[in-house]
Amino acid sequence: MLKQQYEAEIQQLLSQMTIEEKAGQLNQCGPSLAGAFDVDFEELLNMVCDGRVSKEKFQKMMASAEQDYHEEALRAGHIGSYNGVSDAETANRLQRIAVEETRLGIPLLFGYDVIHGYRTVTPIPLAESCAWDERLWEETARMSAKEATAGGVHMTFAPMVDVSRDPRWGRISEGAGEDVLINSLYGRAKVKGFQGEDLTRADAMAACVKHFAAYGAVEAGRDYNRVDMSGQKLYEEYLPPFEACVKAGARAVMPAFNDINGVPCTVNEKLLRDILRKQWGFDGMTISDANAIAECVNHGCAADNADAARQALLAGVDMDMTSGVYSRHLKDLIDKGQLNEQELDRAAANVLRIKFELGLFDNPYQASKEREKREMLTGKHRELARTAAEKSIVLLKNEGVLPFSRKQKIGIVGELAAQAGEMTGTWALRAVESDCVSIIDACESQNIDYVYSPGKDEREFREMAKTCDVFLAAVGEYKRESGEASSRGEIALKADDMKMLETLQRLGKPAAAVIFSGRPLAIPWLSENIPAILEAWHPGVEAGNAILNIVFGEVNPSAKLTAAFPYSSGQCPLYYAHINTGRPAGKSKFTSKYLDIPTEPVYPFGYGLSYTTYEYKNLDIQEKGSFIQISVRVKNTGKRRGEEIVQCYVHDTVAKRARPVKQLAGFQKTSLQPGEEKTITFEIEKDKLGYYDEKMQYLVEEGVFEFFVGGNSRDCLMEKIEITE
Ligand code: BGC
Repeated sequence: MLKQQYEAEIQQLLSQMTIEEKAGQLNQCGPSLAGAFDVDFEELLNMVCDGRVSKEKFQKMMASAEQDYHEEALRAGHIGSYNGVSDAETANRLQRIAVEETRLGIPLLFGYDVIHGYRTVTPIPLAESCAWDERLWEETARMSAKEATAGGVHMTFAPMVDVSRDPRWGRISEGAGEDVLINSLYGRAKVKGFQGEDLTRADAMAACVKHFAAYGAVEAGRDYNRVDMSGQKLYEEYLPPFEACVKAGARAVMPAFNDINGVPCTVNEKLLRDILRKQWGFDGMTISDANAIAECVNHGCAADNADAARQALLAGVDMDMTSGVYSRHLKDLIDKGQLNEQELDRAAANVLRIKFELGLFDNPYQASKEREKREMLTGKHRELARTAAEKSIVLLKNEGVLPFSRKQKIGIVGELAAQAGEMTGTWALRAVESDCVSIIDACESQNIDYVYSPGKDEREFREMAKTCDVFLAAVGEYKRESGEASSRGEIALKADDMKMLETLQRLGKPAAAVIFSGRPLAIPWLSENIPAILEAWHPGVEAGNAILNIVFGEVNPSAKLTAAFPYSSGQCPLYYAHINTGRPAGKSKFTSKYLDIPTEPVYPFGYGLSYTTYEYKNLDIQEKGSFIQISVRVKNTGKRRGEEIVQCYVHDTVAKRARPVKQLAGFQKTSLQPGEEKTITFEIEKDKLGYYDEKMQYLVEEGVFEFFVGGNSRDCLMEKIEITE
């Protein structure tokens, strides 16, 4: 249906709808069933705790809630969307009620967290971002859309484009790391991949960009914590990835749980109206985070749930995710004259619009059992998941140990080497453990000569050392240790892992450590004492196969970190694009540093090794009209073919507001045969070199700029240029 046509239909529908039906469109029911009861869900829990409602009665209520309440409320037109429905049968059953048994037959919208794959789980977003590969990011998103839509999903709560510079924050795993440009390009690619070329197609899924905004900057890395931030920092470092996603056509946006400077994003008019709609021209739908509207009462910004509902609607939140406060309070607020019905109409129109855009009025039953069977975890999907993992695993250290040979006998230690279910990491809601391949599973299926021990017993280790040529130690985090509500105060390796690694070091055998984690870990000891280190993150269903391909050298690692590995938690937040102090760290005591730890990370942003080596030379910078042209010669100086991610950074040396010492301006991935040499050229537009002044005006100034090119953010060639206009 054409846009003009459905805009008229939207108005037509609105004119027929009651206030309750319009509020129903804004109501998303979820697994918490919070909207299923007449009282607040929390209040109900209190009633159970203090005995006003018996446990048996509560259990019965819960058991019948979906069937009774949901279906009854759904028939009455009080539900517009569900979060958490992810199989074709349920989706079609509920959809049939909406379409055939409600007064106006408006279809439901099913939202779901498809974060890094659906049944075919790909590497966690932080891992996949280390591939620096827009095509891959788009392809894996396309694959998840095909699978998820087969199971009934219409909209994914992704991509998360929260710049995150503090690995204590567990949700750093869900985004593309510390850099603004990487998050922007990653987000754009994901939006394109999820939505495809035509949103009405059955395999296209709307992207809901989250969490708007600055959630990655929560104080002290503690989840849901406050954010207090200058306008410049917000505009320059946290908003651009959202703008990139909106420009790429993302159809939905989710405000973040946190406040910014005291105003929760859920009721933040400046963000949701001025910036998102007016400045960026966003014309899609907004949806709160789970229960976030009601939580404005806890923030101390709303007197009660009704007040929270009123403020959120006025600020521009169209759909209420699972708090139920819109459906409970909007009618009353309008009846009492505390809210204008036009506000409700506007929000309901936004919800109806996305349903039209997705083609749901014409084809409400896009999921099917046949599609589920056909689309999930196909051979091609597995292959893509493996490629994605291979491109995401970062070689952090290698003193001539890797690759191992398939002829060697390997001693494998560490529980994570045998735990297939842990390979998916956080937010893999549709993962099936038996789909996943651990390191041990891969060794078995590939007939590797290995001995395995969980690594708890030192004597066992010594026995293994007698027969094994090399060791591979799996260490790091379980999936529950990163993601939402999983911040850590200390991001070091655990005591058990350290003990195992120390034993390994004492044995003196060639050894490599494989780290599984949802965040950069502080690993100063490991980086000094074990000769080879692979950061595998949580690599997804094909974990073991991808790791073995790298360990045995069939795949030459090429990934580069998108978030620095700090020396210790005390350095956090830590990021390469910082600004200088008046006393940059130096030899003198009175410079900006710590007494007990270094100021530098163990591994910087952009860092990652390969089994070959590269040489950078002949950096040349020219001003060419409206852009700066930067070229460099890159040579493969080793013995293997490799892919190098060539990075270009910029620094504005003098400005009214101090500028980052380096800021990623572009990158290119290039493939080089041994001995081969190529010229890599970047064209950076001059008007991208500006910054925001205190009035939030974007300024591009003349002056001397430094350009850096290299294989990571620390080791670069540098040339200056004076830009005059
Ligand atoms: C998370 C969101 C997620 C939502 C829906 C919330 O707790 O913050 O990122 O999309 O749940 O499941």
